[in-house]
Amino acid sequence: MAKRGGGGGTDDREEAPPETEIIVWREEARRFETPDGEAFLQYRLPSPAVMDVVHTYVPRSKRGRGLAARLCDAAFAHARGRGMRVVPTCSYVSDTYLPRYPAWNELVYNEDQDPNPNPSSM
Ligand code: COA
Repeated sequence: MAKRGGGGGTDDREEAPPETEIIVWREEARRFETPDGEAFLQYRLPSPAVMDVVHTYVPRSKRGRGLAARLCDAAFAHARGRGMRVVPTCSYVSDTYLPRYPAWNELVYNEDQDPNPNPSSM
């Protein structure tokens, strides 16, 4: 279990294929990221019940294979589990992820809503 990946046949890097990357939550950094920290989704908490996704980054070598979407999946699932709303400040989230996964639109915060919806008590 020390290393994942290795199915691609390349031996110049030890990177896992993006689609099998584990996503970890680093609460103190307000990030979801790969274990090496190279790919990440950064968020702010303008209020306890609102997650503002400000930036998503994937290294060039791993782009175009859904890793940013996996980071977003983790962030949206986290928000849903805590009764939070999401602000899609990052253009990847607003312009690419949400149109591709419209079910998550129900979590998108809009200004007409209560600015302080009740978070779950977790
Ligand atoms: N805004 C919106 N969509 C973007 C984008 C951007 N800035 N950059 C790339 N995309 C789209 C591409 O059009 C691509 O579409 P395709 O699948 O039709 O080719 C799609 O994202 C790829 O999706 P996915 O594989 O899930 O994303 P990824 O793992 O390649 O990572 C980024 C996407 C944006 C995180 C990555 O390209 C990156 O780190 N870019 C530099 C930082 C950046 O611009 N971040 C977004 C603004 S905060």
